[in-house]
Amino acid sequence: MSLLQTTDIRRSYGSLPVLKGINLAIEPGEVVSIVGASGAGKTTLLHILGTLDRPDSGHLTIDGENVFKQNDRQLARFRNERIGFVFQFNNLLPEFSALENVCLPGFIAGKDEKEVRKRAQTLLDTLGLHDRLNHLPSQMSGGEQQRTAVARALINQPAIVFADEPSGNLDSRNAEDLHQLFFRLRNDLGQTFIIVTHNETLAGMADRTLTIRDGLIE
Ligand SMILES: Nc1ncnc2c1ncn2[C@@H]1O[C@H](COP(=O)(O)OP(=O)(O)O)[C@@H](O)[C@H]1O
Ligand SMILES: [Mg+2]
Repeated sequence: MSLLQTTDIRRSYGSLPVLKGINLAIEPGEVVSIVGASGAGKTTLLHILGTLDRPDSGHLTIDGENVFKQNDRQLARFRNERIGFVFQFNNLLPEFSALENVCLPGFIAGKDEKEVRKRAQTLLDTLGLHDRLNHLPSQMSGGEQQRTAVARALINQPAIVFADEPSGNLDSRNAEDLHQLFFRLRNDLGQTFIIVTHNETLAGMADRTLTIRDGLIE
């Protein structure tokens, strides 16, 4: 069975149909990019695949779990434990250090505090941020903030990491570093990524590119 599979996912906003029957399957360890014109429904699809939003109809299975059968509370728990997100703007909490930001999803999952801190430190080390542990987001560069967001996405060893325009706010040098990082994490950890991007280089690096047009995967 695929790691993630959808059947006929549909989603409208009022009378505007955005997703008109999305069928796709993602295998473990794949890096898949999603491209399409602005307004094509990429973010809408990513939010549904990431269980942040529910479709009007259709099914989503992740790791064998029929996710939209779950109630909101169960779904929040599933999301915390099994799914990681990296957004265009890093969404780090400004009052917390890099280390604390990375730890939070682990604490929310109720994991052992010492273990979470240790894993967070190891992740930040691996991402080249060993000397930024106690920095606030405002004290870090855009690239460092985004790598901290990647560490946060990985803290609970998610089945899948979803990224929505993760390099959209970075200069080309930092964008390239971030893209390399995704592939390093896939090669080293077998991490699965689904990445929405305008960046043609990143889209071209992926194992597979899905294009959304007129509410469907081409
Ligand atoms: N919360 C919302 N309410 C109403 N319309 C929305 C909402 N979110 C997105 N849309 C509309 O749905 C379409 C797809 O949006 P989106 O998924 O954000 O596209 P993309 O990420 O590909 O640029 C757009 O026409 C957008 O205006
Ligand atoms: Mg979008």
